[in-house]
Amino acid sequence: MKFFVDTADTAEIRDLAESGLVDGVTTNPSLIHKSGRKFLEVVEEICGITPGPVSAEVVALDHETMMKEAEVLRKIADNVAIKVPLTIDGLKTCKALTSDGTMVNVTLCFSANQALLAAKAGATFISPFVGRHDDIGFDGMRLIEDIRLIYDNYMFDTEILVASVRHPVHILEAAKLGADVMTAPPQVIRQLIKHPLTDKGIEGFLADWGKTGQTIG
Ligand code: E4P
Repeated sequence: MKFFVDTADTAEIRDLAESGLVDGVTTNPSLIHKSGRKFLEVVEEICGITPGPVSAEVVALDHETMMKEAEVLRKIADNVAIKVPLTIDGLKTCKALTSDGTMVNVTLCFSANQALLAAKAGATFISPFVGRHDDIGFDGMRLIEDIRLIYDNYMFDTEILVASVRHPVHILEAAKLGADVMTAPPQVIRQLIKHPLTDKGIEGFLADWGKTGQTIG
């Protein structure tokens, strides 16, 4: 499963990339707002950090303006994936851009039927939002299970990008269900590393090593 980082914080991306934990990045208008930086500038910087897909979202609601915005965004770098909302205009934009060889991430997906439409429109990625689904009392991971089944039934190439990830169990479930990609905030990716027995083990080994009186090198 590929790991994308869901952030516009370039210091965090750089740091995780050094550990090989960044296969791509997703941003959205809220994350850009949180960064306090200029949208195009931050996308360009992220594209320089990772060669993987970097999702940059259009903000227009009509197809024509979405295409104009996509034109600006895709000029930034070859690894920009245009993010469009799951609306009829978003699907039209998806179809036009992917037919032209541009990667498209169809976002704000909340049903398996919506995911089916995105695949038919040629989406590179579909982003089902599991956390926001959980928030309203549904089991977001069941959505991933349904989409996996449907995509496998019809051999769609669209990659399932599990989004709105809030905790490590979302990532574990996504991997077990065979999701292609997950995108999570940096702090959730860091949570995967931690285990109290790892910390306790290091502590024990170092205590015993100290008693040997040796050094390495
Ligand atoms: C995905 O591309 C979105 O940016 C993101 O996962 C949204 O997550 P949220 O529901 O935590 O805002």
